[in-house]
Amino acid sequence: MSLEHSKIRRIILVEHEGLRIGMRGIESKLELVASGDVAAIKDTHHALQSLLESFIRHIEHEERILRPVLQTIDAWGPARVASMDEEHTTQRKQVTRLAQMDAVSDPAKWAREVRTFATELLADMADEEKTCLSPDVLRDDIIAVGPDSE
Ligand SMILES: [Fe+2]
Ligand SMILES: [Fe+2]
Repeated sequence: MSLEHSKIRRIILVEHEGLRIGMRGIESKLELVASGDVAAIKDTHHALQSLLESFIRHIEHEERILRPVLQTIDAWGPARVASMDEEHTTQRKQVTRLAQMDAVSDPAKWAREVRTFATELLADMADEEKTCLSPDVLRDDIIAVGPDSE
């Protein structure tokens, strides 16, 4: 099955939006978490675990549907794919680390780590949207125009 480029773009953008909403919800609780509020720590820890699971699924999804298209789409394809692979390797390590961190023993430290991750995640999605997900890159109609095109 092959998907139109515009459809791949829409699917990934919708996932990004879901991750942004989830991350904003988590960020809005971090101050309370850092103050040691037990209920906020429990809820936010739970919300983060589920966001991390969604994020891993998102990465796998990008690799399955976006990566093969980027590979061949233009002269910058291989560079885009290399940078995606590098980024995803780093992100998988960050996710594993964050998922294993104990929020209860040092909530302020945990909140700081989550905030750093959130900032990086938001920046990465913005960067992907500018580089590999822009409509100029993922367009459906690639038309060759030249003297022989009629
Ligand atoms: Fe990505
Ligand atoms: Fe992404």
